[in-house]
Amino acid sequence: MNSTGEQAGRATSARTPSLKLGRTLIDSTALDAGVARIAAELDRDQAGRPALLVGILKGSVFFLCDLAKRLKTPVSLDFLQVSSYGSETKSSGNVRLVRDLTTDVAGKDVIIVEDIVDTGRTLSKIKEILGTRHPKSVKICALLQKQIPGNDDVPVDYLGFSIEDVFVVGYGLDHAEAYRNLPYIAVLEPDGDGSEGPA
Ligand code: IMP
Ligand code: MG
Repeated sequence: MNSTGEQAGRATSARTPSLKLGRTLIDSTALDAGVARIAAELDRDQAGRPALLVGILKGSVFFLCDLAKRLKTPVSLDFLQVSSYGSETKSSGNVRLVRDLTTDVAGKDVIIVEDIVDTGRTLSKIKEILGTRHPKSVKICALLQKQIPGNDDVPVDYLGFSIEDVFVVGYGLDHAEAYRNLPYIAVLEPDGDGSEGPA
């Protein structure tokens, strides 16, 4: 799924000195197919019942928009944002709600839409918070899940791609706010200049 052409002209934008854009892991054609597959699964399960898509800012935004456009299920949208403190490429698990929903989730089928499951702590915390607000149901939809032992404690109901344990950027995923607008998912790698690589 490598597409060097897609990377041309983007690799130098807003990059840090210690990391560089590496190989393409999931190109835009594969992303489209993954999103279409998830949309079909979700439509099948909802069987016409409306759902509230809750996007986790900011990483889920590209995925959520593409998914919502593919759905036949009637959806409303809302967003929340959490912060987690840790090194730049590893989440700490100290998850704090920094922007809440504007929608009452009581009685609704809630689908949490997330970019990536790494340790699973972010989704675990969000599911716990929303679960206290009396929704009819809460499901998790993630574009990516890293293959890490133990991160499947939080069940992912809809998954785009299971990936190796590498730091990825693009299609909403960032490193220090850079690379979100890449239309594909790429691996961020040490740039080999002797400076520090990913944590
Ligand atoms: P978790 O709580 O360890 O599952 O981490 C999930 C959050 O960490 C995601 O919402 C992302 O914001 C961020 N994250 C984890 N892995 C990556 C990655 O490979 N690239 C970009 N962000 C990541
Ligand atoms: Mg992030």
